[in-house]
Amino acid sequence: MSKIDFTGRVAIITGAGAGLGRCYALEMAKRGAKIVVNDLGGSRDGVGSDGAAANKVVEEIKALGGEAVPNYDSVATLAGGENIVNTAIKAFGKVDILINNAGILRDKTFIKMDEENWDAVMNVHLKGAFYVTRPAFENMRKNGYGRIVMTTSGAGLFGNFGQTNYASAKMGLIGLTNVLKIEGEKYNIKTNVIVPVAASRLTEDVLPPEFFEKMKPDFVASAVLYMCSEQCVDSGMIINAALGYYSRSAVVTGPGAILSDGVKIPTPEEVMGDWSKIISLDSPKYFNMLPEMFSVLGPVLK
Ligand code: NAI
Repeated sequence: MSKIDFTGRVAIITGAGAGLGRCYALEMAKRGAKIVVNDLGGSRDGVGSDGAAANKVVEEIKALGGEAVPNYDSVATLAGGENIVNTAIKAFGKVDILINNAGILRDKTFIKMDEENWDAVMNVHLKGAFYVTRPAFENMRKNGYGRIVMTTSGAGLFGNFGQTNYASAKMGLIGLTNVLKIEGEKYNIKTNVIVPVAASRLTEDVLPPEFFEKMKPDFVASAVLYMCSEQCVDSGMIINAALGYYSRSAVVTGPGAILSDGVKIPTPEEVMGDWSKIISLDSPKYFNMLPEMFSVLGPVLK
């Protein structure tokens, strides 16, 4: 088995001042990567800022003999995203790896969800990924190499009470990844997604205490480090990681039902009649990109 080594690689990790991001930064630095430790240092709901969060992790990396610089910008602004990428280019000359990890929570039931709490979460998770990834992607494209990891959540993939804003933002990252997978292909830029579950300040009141103790971010870091390595040539994978369990989630399509010869419009009653066939996920298919989806229309198009 080849060893995963990041010597000579430059990695930006957003929200690396605590939790999962800090763990990725330390583990990647131990394997030779030069790190931009980005963190705004605000509260769990994204209020305030404090450079101490990023500084502390930079000091920890240096104490291990690694190389790192801090960045205190918010990912949630265009200028912030550009400055995060420029910090890497100025300090280390390029960007090879980007982990979009910064995150906040503003949980409310849907009826109580106001625009401010909707936008705050969208801005950090979804627009934040756009703001940082776009300039990073540009540099990666120039260099013909890139590894990007987006951070989604089971709340988006499967649903979780009180998290409409967060779930929507997190699912937006899957759409972003599906397209970056295609646009990055010829530049050797691979974009994958992590679905973590780990102990951090975001989960301290969500996970039962006996789980919380055990759910070390390090379990998640192993999957993220692999997805950031040269050895990982997959793109568009959505990988669940928690406590040493790793699996793939995917948007798949069931076999469906053909209710027309391609000319006759089926009635709503005919759809109702075949509903169980339509919603079946027996022998699901995975489509790597939109045009592949049209293959299912073959029998009707004939
Ligand atoms: P955390 O709260 O320990 O770390 C998030 C970091 O992001 C904090 O240090 C915070 O200061 C930083 N941050 C927040 N807004 C920022 C901004 N605008 N610009 C720059 N930095 C900012 O939380 P955790 O758990 O480590 O979360 C990391 C990521 O993983 C988040 O995207 C979160 O949504 C996601 N996630 C975590 C899960 C878990 O079980 N811990 C589950 C599913 C997803």
